[in-house]
Amino acid sequence: MSTSINYEDKIPNNVDLSSDRRLQRALEGWQPKFMNWWGEMGPALETHGVYLRTAVSVGRDGWAHFDHVNVPDYRWGIFLAEPKADRRIAFGEHKGQPVWQQVPGEYRADLQRLIVIQGDTEPASVEQQKLLGLTAPSLYDLRNLFQVNVEEGRHLWAMVYLLHAYFGREGREEAEALLVRNSGSPDSPRILGAFNEETADWLAFYMFTYFTDRDGKYQLGTLKESAFDPLSRTCEFMLKEEAHHMFVGTTGVDRVVTRSAQLIREHDTLDIGKHGGIPLDIIQKYINFHYTVSLDLFGSETSTNAANYFTAGLKGRWMEERRKDDHQLTEHGIQLDRPNADGTWTNDELSALLALNLDLRGEYISDCQSGIKRWNKIMADAELDFRFALPHVGFNRHVGMHAGFHITPDGSIVDEATWQKGRKKWLPTSEDLAFVRSLMHPVYERGKIASWVAPPTNGINNKPFDYEYVYFH
Ligand SMILES: [Fe+2]
Ligand SMILES: [Fe+2]
Repeated sequence: MSTSINYEDKIPNNVDLSSDRRLQRALEGWQPKFMNWWGEMGPALETHGVYLRTAVSVGRDGWAHFDHVNVPDYRWGIFLAEPKADRRIAFGEHKGQPVWQQVPGEYRADLQRLIVIQGDTEPASVEQQKLLGLTAPSLYDLRNLFQVNVEEGRHLWAMVYLLHAYFGREGREEAEALLVRNSGSPDSPRILGAFNEETADWLAFYMFTYFTDRDGKYQLGTLKESAFDPLSRTCEFMLKEEAHHMFVGTTGVDRVVTRSAQLIREHDTLDIGKHGGIPLDIIQKYINFHYTVSLDLFGSETSTNAANYFTAGLKGRWMEERRKDDHQLTEHGIQLDRPNADGTWTNDELSALLALNLDLRGEYISDCQSGIKRWNKIMADAELDFRFALPHVGFNRHVGMHAGFHITPDGSIVDEATWQKGRKKWLPTSEDLAFVRSLMHPVYERGKIASWVAPPTNGINNKPFDYEYVYFH
């Protein structure tokens, strides 16, 4: 095991793949299937070189190398963070014991399930974003899209490696199935709801990378704590790549909000659609939608599965080791407001162990709040009164205790008729979506940008905004 990566092998890796010929052969058998999938389900736009980063080591500094790469020639590989000497299990009933280098038989099925669910989201987002390259607002954005796409492809590799290396024939079958399910497919959809929604325009892409990739960050954060060390180390490196995806989302929404504010000032009206901008209320509706489908990814507020995973040591809490408690959660409680059919809320006290999904969701929500703060600062700096907000946690939910209730963005439980009337104010309507889509025209000239978004303040890897991030010939 080393921090540097072997690019001599057919499959780049830092797991000494060539020492295990059976595993190497099995993964080399999966590789052409991955390439077929990429060809069919990956980016629809053909280019002749994209300025991409490729991992060259997993160490702390300078792990990335930047160059123009023909996208299908990207070197997808298997990169695990460095092992930590004498790492110990940090929580649950095995707390204090050495971490596992192999899968304990009793946890095999659960660990495999966790890896498959995580693995399923990675190719799903590539599928969801397949057509976006055709309408990129600038070469800079196009490059970022492809960067996100190739890294999600690599995250699939990360999970497939674990399945092949540690889960035998069943693992290999699951690795095949990851290429068979497709986002939005009626017959074999992706496992989680948010990954079957279409990412139809670039505002949706920025929202997805802000809200949904951020869910990914929190899920990976819990798996990074895992007692199964190869999973922990894989997730640790994935988190480094994931940070850029969220940067694309955060700054993407920043730039849309900045541009809308400019147009509002310039034309002295909130009605900026006719001036090629995205009105603030539509941006808010996109926030409402993407935030709430992402909240659904955290599952039910109470979960015996999550409790069992924790107790077994498979999945920890966010920043487990920094928490100041017994790391076994046998006596702690957590408060929760539960909706009632009569329109009231009841405050319950739950066991912290049963409410681990709620704990993780809480961390996620406060992180999302930081985006709202940024975008409101842009409003304030432009001397505009409009303020963005996250809707109530019960709004537009399809998973957990709020599902089946109609809850408004400010947290009132309402009847069906009120909900139907309010819906068009709260969630993007088909007209809103069609309008945003009507703004989406490709801008592939160096240094140029679409009307609805401001240029970034910095380019990639110290290159200027007008750098030729993508070659077309
Ligand atoms: Fe990912
Ligand atoms: Fe991501």
